[in-house]
Amino acid sequence: MDLLRDNRILLGVSGGIAAYKAPELVRRLRDAGADVHVVLTAAAARFVSPLSLEVVSEHPVGADLWAPGRDSRIVHTDAGKDADLILLAPATADLIGRIRHGLADDLLATTVMACHTPVLVCPSMNTEMLANPFVRENLAALSADPRYTLLEPGVGLLACGVHGPGRLPDPPEIIEAAAAVLTAKDLAGVRVTLSAGPTREAIDPVRFLSNRSTGTMGFALARAFAAAGAEVTLVAGPVALRTPVGVARRVDVVTAADLLGAVERAWEGTDVLVMTAAVADFRPTTVAADKLKKGDLGAATSMPLERTADVLATMTARPGRDQKLLIGFAAETRDVEGYARRKLAAKGLDWIVANDVAAEGVGFGPGDNAAVLIGRDGAAHPFPRASKEALATRLVAALAPTLAARSRRDG
Ligand code: CTP
Repeated sequence: MDLLRDNRILLGVSGGIAAYKAPELVRRLRDAGADVHVVLTAAAARFVSPLSLEVVSEHPVGADLWAPGRDSRIVHTDAGKDADLILLAPATADLIGRIRHGLADDLLATTVMACHTPVLVCPSMNTEMLANPFVRENLAALSADPRYTLLEPGVGLLACGVHGPGRLPDPPEIIEAAAAVLTAKDLAGVRVTLSAGPTREAIDPVRFLSNRSTGTMGFALARAFAAAGAEVTLVAGPVALRTPVGVARRVDVVTAADLLGAVERAWEGTDVLVMTAAVADFRPTTVAADKLKKGDLGAATSMPLERTADVLATMTARPGRDQKLLIGFAAETRDVEGYARRKLAAKGLDWIVANDVAAEGVGFGPGDNAAVLIGRDGAAHPFPRASKEALATRLVAALAPTLAARSRRDG
């Protein structure tokens, strides 16, 4: 993941138990390409060692408001101004309250107060504390201010032994949220429906026909569209992936018929349909009610199949199609661009993204991908091999001007 490449992040750590996760978070932020500086509150320094943070960030750690700046610059104003993003993780009830009420009584609160840098707040605390009406009020006040973005805490087993909301989200989620804050909202107001992952067509209660799609590329695109401000409905086949940060809604489906139903229901409120799903083209004509036994099949070695509906072809024939943009994907193992061009024409698409799933080091699963974006006008734009996250960001950036212009025209 290189979602934070060339960004400077000021990580503010306040004194909750989740502060012990800060060194790992610094590492992961740096792996994502960020230059990370750290400021601790006095309470945080009781949970995590400033020395550890200094070693992993490779920068001096700020903790004391009264320590003279090394080069006599006014440290507390510069640290925030120099950053692209201030990340408060964990943000305790105390820190949130102090910021909301304009109290600048330590280096971290002063740093936040003394600049206009966007702030991503990751509240993490005991469940009861999180439910406290004054804490809720402070959180609501921060999220009403466009400078502050809140990342909802996760639900899990907390240090106090209670199972509930209050957990600091894991680094990948924090990184996605940070990247979203740093992304221009070029697609604000654009409604994207995006399908991802495989479908499964049941043979009997324990067996199915499916394919090797993991949904990774589709989920990365859903994240990238949401980061650019689009309202994303993610229609997900059976995959083991967390919903990306910023995705407005997720509809889980299993079969090609479920997927078509979900897309049909979303159609009216969709400006852009992106079909990354690897939809089954065939399903068994009948689904056995009980597990099939070898003996049930007798001498039969083949299974009768029937075609599933082609989702894209169905939707391109629907009323309202001309007000929408349709983007297909073509995962091929040979003559990649040729097949993709034929599918673009046959399915009546605006764009198709072709990728070679047989090439070395790219294709299914986590890791890298490479693609060619082909438009209706026949122009091909190659996207060289990159992580799926980076490729998704680039594809969305390339599509954004047309998508935004189209939705403005129709809106
Ligand atoms: N697709 C669809 N409905 C289907 C099958 C595919 O909407 N029943 C969509 C995919 O989501 C993708 C595009 O069509 O965006 C191309 O899918 P692909 O599986 O590559 O092509 P097929 O149409 O299935 O053609 P073929 O099997 O000949 O490769």
